[in-house]
Parts: sequence; C-alpha cells; structure tokens
Amino acid sequence: MDQRLAILADFADLTHEEVAALSSQGALTLEQADKMVENAIGIYSLPLGLGLNFLINDKDYVIPLAVEEPSVIAAVSSVAKLVRGAGGFHAEATERRMIGQVQVVNVPNLEQAASELAKNRDDLIKQANNAHPSLQKRGGGAVDIAVRLLNQEPKAVFPPMLVLHLLVDTQEAMGANMVNTMVEAIAPTVAELTGGDVHLRILSNFVDECVATAHCVIPPPLLATSEYSGEEVRDRLISAYQFAASDIYRAVTHNKGVMNGVDAAVIASGNDWRAVEAAAHAYAARDGHYGSMTRWTVDYDGNLCGELTLPMPVGTVGGSIKVHPIAQLTQKITGIKSARELSQLIVVVGLAQNFAAIKALVTDGIQKGHMALQARSLAMVAGATGSLVDIIAGQLVASGEINSSKADSLLKEYTVKKS
Ligand code: MEV
Repeated sequence: MDQRLAILADFADLTHEEVAALSSQGALTLEQADKMVENAIGIYSLPLGLGLNFLINDKDYVIPLAVEEPSVIAAVSSVAKLVRGAGGFHAEATERRMIGQVQVVNVPNLEQAASELAKNRDDLIKQANNAHPSLQKRGGGAVDIAVRLLNQEPKAVFPPMLVLHLLVDTQEAMGANMVNTMVEAIAPTVAELTGGDVHLRILSNFVDECVATAHCVIPPPLLATSEYSGEEVRDRLISAYQFAASDIYRAVTHNKGVMNGVDAAVIASGNDWRAVEAAAHAYAARDGHYGSMTRWTVDYDGNLCGELTLPMPVGTVGGSIKVHPIAQLTQKITGIKSARELSQLIVVVGLAQNFAAIKALVTDGIQKGHMALQARSLAMVAGATGSLVDIIAGQLVASGEINSSKADSLLKEYTVKKS
C-alpha cells in the first residue's frame, strides 16, 4: 500500500495531506458526515482501488474505483491492458441536457394547452433562467421545452395529463437542484397557460439527452486462450451478448456486470450512483424490451467490436463532490477536465467490466478467477490478519474448496501448528 501511494503521489502530483487523506479510512470527518445527512452515527467505508492501463481517446488514465467486490478492479485493469494492445478505447459524450418535468392534470383542452405552452416557449425559458441566473452566466441554462400528452384515447388506462419538459444545460453539474428550482419557478405560469392543476415539478432521471458511449475493436489474436482460438473466443463472446439481448433473466445479470464497473467509478467520483443506475436500466429497456446494455459484433476484418451507450448524469461540481475529500482527490488522480470527460471514463469502465465477465464466462468460467480473489475475504472472515490472510487464501485456492468452513479449519490447523 505504501509503495502504491508513493507511486500515485508522484504520478498525480499529490500533496502529503492528500496522501494522508487517502490513507485515513474514509477521509470524511464525522463533522462533515453530520452535515451531509440526518441522524448521522458514523461513516461507512469502501475500498478504493485504481483501474490501471486505460488508454482512452489516445490519452492514458488511471481510474479510481470504489467497490467492495473482489475481482472488479483486477478484471478492468487486465481488460484495459488487452485493449491498449489494440489501440485503446474510444469514447464520446453528447451535450449535457437534463430534463425537468411539470405534471399538469385536469386540463380542459389538452391540444389548446399544448399550443399555448409552445407559443410562450421563450418566456418560459426566460423565467426558468431567471430562477437560476448563475447557470446562464456559466454558458448553460434552460434551452428548450417540449410538451407531452399522456393517457390519450384509445389506449388510456389513467386520466389524461399534460407534461411539460424543460431542457436544461447544467454545464459541469449533475444539476438536480438547478432543474428542480427552475421547474418550480415556471409552474404557476404553466398552470395559468394550460388552465390545469400543476402537481409534480421534478427532474427526470431518464436523461436520454445526456449520454456517453465507449467503443473498442479487438483483433482475434488478442483474445486467444490456451484452450480456444481468438476467433472462437470472439464468437462465443458475441453469442453471450446475443443471449443477454434476447433474455431478461440473462440481461439483468449481464448488465449487473456492466454496473459493477460503472457504479465503482461513479461512487469514487462522488456522484449520485442511484441516478446513474436508474437511468442505465431504463435505457436498456427504452424500446420496450429490457436487453443488453452492451453490444458485441464482428466487423469486416473479423475484429470483435464492443459498444456501450448509457445516460450519464454526472458532474464535476455540486452535490457532495466539493464536500467529500476523496471525490476531490479522485478527480485529481484521473486528471479529467470536464463532466463529459468523466462520463466517457465511466462508460469505458462499464464496457471493460462487461468484457471481462463474459470472456471469463465463455472460457474458464467465472469461478476460477473469482474464487481465488474471494479466498482472501473468506480468510479475513475466518479471523486471519496481516500476512496470514494471503497464506490462508493460498491454501484455500490450493485445496480447491474455497468456502468459509474450509477457511475456518485451515486457520485452526495453522494456529495449532504454530503454537
Ligand atoms: C458478478 O458480480 C457479475 C457477473 O455475474 C456478470 C455476468 O454474468 O456477466 C459475473
């Protein structure tokens, strides 16, 4: 750990205080925690590790990942190394437009209400921006509106309603508070223009106008294992993707693997991972069928092509990012300059994690690598500490029985022998 921190300090130009923050569990103080949530009683920590070897858009990155599951960090680092041999990952991100929703019920004439809102588009945008003028000064702000009519005949199950969408460029912030302030500010005008009753005024977490995409192209020779040729691994990977694309039972597990990487990167960045989770799964079902988040295909040259697009409502400012010392540090370690760049790194980690999982599944099976890493946790649960953790973990792997009762008995045997 000390050696890693020394190398990292040199690489990311960290101060002594920053290194000390990384080494002090959680780094968040009790006082800070008490200001962040209600009824605070302590701090819940997670391991923070580094995803290594990432080459993204021809730039090198190390990506901090906060995750409790063994093998996630090792898996993405090893995939990043493999993909680096094929020119690295490519990623892009759209403009960042968040959506605020205003729900209007009991509208006397929906079509007329929609046309009144459209006529007053510029005024509504102006009012929204007046509610948060600093955002416009930074180059962002409310930029457009859209009107949607729900529960129209003949398919209506519930009473009809009108929903106004306010589109907001939130710049470097995720922007939930800004958007909520704006939709609350325009709500009285919306009620007046539509003649209806305004109920909900809230951000939509389905941010389909703020997405990031990661790609990789891998030649078959890089995929070969001792048991399978590169072409065989490629075709088996594609078949694994097709399974996830066709079956919800497999898709949820496949996508859980994607989110192992995505969540770890989002948490380390100090962003709201529930927002990213909610949007990601909804996006995987955007055509009415829940399927694979990633897509794996073959190109004309026989290369394996991977792609992942996800909504990415993350920021580099706002929320707890400026409060949490580790969120500040992880930004410094990645060297990212914008929320768009951060969102690109996150989808790359998701794609890498999915590749690692399905490659293991179509070759050795998941347990071989997984259980070897799980062995350390089992050794710790059995009570091993210090260097004994690796000794007992090694014995567990060698025994081929990687479970908690074996860990207990190996630790007992070791302790008896030593005494
Ligand atoms: C385990 O955390 C994630 C996997 O189940 C993902 C997958 O099956 O693709 C290995």
